[in-house]
Amino acid sequence: MSGGPLLFLGVLATTALSFWTLVIAPAFQLGRQDLVEAGAGRYPTGRSGLAQRGADVYRSMGCVECHTQQVRPRGYGSDFARGWGERRTVAQDYLRDRPVLLGNLRIGPDLANIGARQPDPKWHFEHLYDPKRRVPGSTMPAYRFLFERRSAGGGLPEDAWVEGEYEIIPTPEAHALVAYLLSLQSQVSLPEAPLPQSLTNAPPADAGTNAPAGDTNTPAAATNPPAPAK
Ligand code: HEC
Repeated sequence: MSGGPLLFLGVLATTALSFWTLVIAPAFQLGRQDLVEAGAGRYPTGRSGLAQRGADVYRSMGCVECHTQQVRPRGYGSDFARGWGERRTVAQDYLRDRPVLLGNLRIGPDLANIGARQPDPKWHFEHLYDPKRRVPGSTMPAYRFLFERRSAGGGLPEDAWVEGEYEIIPTPEAHALVAYLLSLQSQVSLPEAPLPQSLTNAPPADAGTNAPAGDTNTPAAATNPPAPAK
């Protein structure tokens, strides 16, 4: 077959080009990122051991099938209009995550900044136990098996509540999961993704911050109409 060598060269070139653009070039761009001085210390700050275990619970419960953890840049959808973040997320945000739990689908809201958006642990426990109790009409599945139900009467542990004649007590998995959810925050201003000026303690932009002129993260620049969070 006379076309054989040509075909071989074509396949080789396609493979080499993909390897270069999908593996080598990104490794050059992002592969050597390290913690940076930002906010109160080195960013990203590590998670507590409890929150780290919560990340494993999050994985094992399949939360990634419905929730992402990536706020898209302005102009790429309505993430800002929905209030999912103060700034877009960048590679730096995930440096300590192994594996990175970006998520597959957005059946529920993005959780990249849920720890700042909803900082009340009690809200999360009740929402996990029965989502409709906190969000009427919610289609999120209930995770009741993360709670112990026993007859009321004993001393009520912290974060537990009474429902009818039962006490609802979060299990250690529920505690870890909520610690993880509260640790999900992308509120630190980074050179490549500055917070809107109003949220930073930084001096005004002309005093030498890294914020580019005409900062694209300013809320006033929102161009996307709010869409219902599905
Ligand atoms: C079948 C899809 C689905 C799965 C699986 C799922 N969720 Fe949800 N989740 C939703 C939907 C839909 C909403 C929006 C309605 C609501 O707030 O209850 C939501 C809302 C939330 C919220 C509130 C977000 C906000 O912006 O107020 C949190 C927190 C949350 N989910 C956490 C979790 C965690 C943790 C898990 C895994 C244990 C999980 N979800 C699994 C669908 C899902």
